[in-house]
Amino acid sequence: MSNRELLMGLLDRARWAPSGDNTQPWRFEIVSDKHIAIHGHDTRDWCLYDFQGHASHMAHGALLETLRIAATVHGLRATWRWREGTPDDHPIYDVTLEAASTVERDPLESVIESRTVQRRPMRLTPLNATQRRALSEAAGDDFQVQLFETWEARWAVAKLLWRNAHIRLTCPEAYEVHKEIIEWGARFSADRIPERAVGVDWLTARLMRWVMGNWGRVQFFNQYLMGTVAPRVQLDLIPAMACAAHLLLRPKQALEGLEAHLRLGAAMQRVWLTAAAEGLHLQPEMTPVIFRWYARAGQRFSASDQLALRAGELAAAFEAVAGAGQGDEFGFFCRVGVSGGVEGRSTRLGVDGLMVGGKGLGSGS
Ligand SMILES: Cc1cc2nc3c(=O)[nH]c(=O)nc-3n(C[C@H](O)[C@H](O)[C@H](O)COP(=O)(O)O)c2cc1C
Repeated sequence: MSNRELLMGLLDRARWAPSGDNTQPWRFEIVSDKHIAIHGHDTRDWCLYDFQGHASHMAHGALLETLRIAATVHGLRATWRWREGTPDDHPIYDVTLEAASTVERDPLESVIESRTVQRRPMRLTPLNATQRRALSEAAGDDFQVQLFETWEARWAVAKLLWRNAHIRLTCPEAYEVHKEIIEWGARFSADRIPERAVGVDWLTARLMRWVMGNWGRVQFFNQYLMGTVAPRVQLDLIPAMACAAHLLLRPKQALEGLEAHLRLGAAMQRVWLTAAAEGLHLQPEMTPVIFRWYARAGQRFSASDQLALRAGELAAAFEAVAGAGQGDEFGFFCRVGVSGGVEGRSTRLGVDGLMVGGKGLGSGS
């Protein structure tokens, strides 16, 4: 195998890292036999969930960590640096690969591709002691793992997610995002979320697709026909109870700037891969964290005063549930549990299409 083939093989594995709404905010460049450049971008200009580019930065961190894990199979140590002078909305990361006899194959490598989000209800089987310990260790020393496992704790989270979803579903700025990111009628999607991975039944999916055709319909449904109820029950309330636990990653240091979010994204990916290796599924529940980021930064995600007010109330409720204060950092929130396989999943752009100058979607997944 030539070195270029080896590096292309590593990138082929790394591209399975998760990103918000499967946006894959990265392009690859092979600079030399030992040097890959990752050209990152973010989606803050059109996606309200990408507050200050943080969700994309977390995805970059997950990608870099996945590349590091994949490289261990070849006895390679991958280290990276944010290239000086590149801005945080278009950061370039220089990844250097060196052969090192001390590098051991990382067992998480085997689940890089099978790790996936599960948005449907999971079983109530509680976490066992091994799983609890593995998840906590995977987060590393810079993060505390807080679990919400009991029926009462999950109910408290369920109520929080119920309120959170009302903001999500009545926010015109969020509607603009939601209508772009679902590939209706699909089981797999290379650059979006396929309908079958969304987590609603067939009839609700048909209705959602029609209602989401324009904002006027959404408003009418929400106002007169309790349009938020069916999706909130299926997407938030039931899944919040139907899982083993909710997991909150709490950074011990201030979560500021690009590099802190890269570290958070790397920890998120280790936790997610570890969950997969432990036979668990996981679903991120990032919108309450993101609305809190806005609220605590005193920034708006919507022109609506009422929604801004609700986000502030929700942030306080989240802090009460977690026993935290206004100044405490919340990094990544998700639910975990045992479940059957997924009905559909986001695939990825092909590695050729992800190369700088590549043709994006054209190359398949
Ligand atoms: C930073 C980040 C935030 C995410 N937030 C959510 C979320 O709030 N809800 C959700 O269902 N999925 C969320 N996801 C999951 C992505 O939509 C998913 O990883 C992506 O579509 C690729 O699918 P896969 O993980 O099955 O490969 C998030 C992923 C990342 C990396």
